Amino acid sequence: MTATTPTGRVAPTGTTLVVGAIGTTGSRTTAQLIAAGRSVRAGSRRATAVPGAEPVRFDWYDPAGFDDALAGSDRVYLVPPVGDPDPAAVMLPFLDRARAAGVRRAVLLSSSAIPEGGPAVGEVHRALPGLFGEWAVLRPSWFMQNFTGTHTHADGIRTEGAFLTAAGAGRVGFVDADDIAAVAVRALTDDLAPNTDLVLTGPEALSHDDIAAVLTEVSGRPVVHHHLTYEAMRERLAAVIPPAFATMLAGMDRAIAEGSEDRTTDTVLRLTGRPPHGFRAVAERELSGAAGPGTV
Ligand SMILES: NC(=O)c1ccc[n+]([C@@H]2O[C@H](COP(=O)([O-])OP(=O)(O)OC[C@H]3O[C@@H](n4cnc5c(N)ncnc54)[C@H](OP(=O)(O)O)[C@@H]3O)[C@@H](O)[C@H]2O)c1
Repeated sequence: MTATTPTGRVAPTGTTLVVGAIGTTGSRTTAQLIAAGRSVRAGSRRATAVPGAEPVRFDWYDPAGFDDALAGSDRVYLVPPVGDPDPAAVMLPFLDRARAAGVRRAVLLSSSAIPEGGPAVGEVHRALPGLFGEWAVLRPSWFMQNFTGTHTHADGIRTEGAFLTAAGAGRVGFVDADDIAAVAVRALTDDLAPNTDLVLTGPEALSHDDIAAVLTEVSGRPVVHHHLTYEAMRERLAAVIPPAFATMLAGMDRAIAEGSEDRTTDTVLRLTGRPPHGFRAVAERELSGAAGPGTV
């Protein structure tokens, strides 16, 4: 795909392989790239049809499919394999293949809670600048869509009118996944790549009690935040996920309780030219349908 610049020069606009293209940030990044006239290969383990994109089969645990998935792509949006404590083991070999196949820009989804060189995706973050001349690591705070989409919190809200954390009264700069995608699009398509990590938040830091209050007002049904201890949360999680992962997730809640996420950044405004969406507006948007996954 090409585009004509104001000077008449024909500039390549590139093709992006989006990994996790039907997930929370991948679907929004795909849609926004397509809306901007970009060419997208939509990666999913099931090669799911996505309007305007070319569906491709992509599984982090099937390296034999990497080259087909990458064909013709010069940039990638990377959602790591969810729940894998050592994503670098599959991601770094893929990134080597991507570079060899002509990819020159990589945008990685990490987390505000995971610094460069930190656990899990932190290792991939550390390796990225040495692999690509053009790169960015998106480090969003917690997603607003955790309360409206397919996350455990949203499930609990739908079925019990409640969700549980060990985050206490700690505040979080919750961020809209649409805003994460908007930053991803800039990082993927701007002439100059960020070549840095970007901590993304919404416009204000809110406690989980604040979130419950907004959801109660917006949905018209009571929503309660139950406060658990760190130990109770770890035990509860360990019943359904591996113990090390349960300890990590419960530890993230404890860190929130201690103030680790009580901040906002100007990244969304700086990268997109508009302020990030607030939680009330996002809840109203996501819960406005009479049915569907976002309905409380
Ligand atoms: N939730 C938060 O508050 C938060 C905050 C900061 C960062 N994050 C980061 O966001 C990511 C998860 O976001 P999410 O929970 O909203 O998940 P999601 O993006 O909705 O779902 C994960 C995606 O990964 C794909 N996937 C799963 N296993 C795969 C595999 N083996 N190979 C290829 N693709 C695979 C799935 O696609 P298919 O099923 O179509 O294959 C799905 O689209 C994590 O990396 C997490 O660290 C989340």
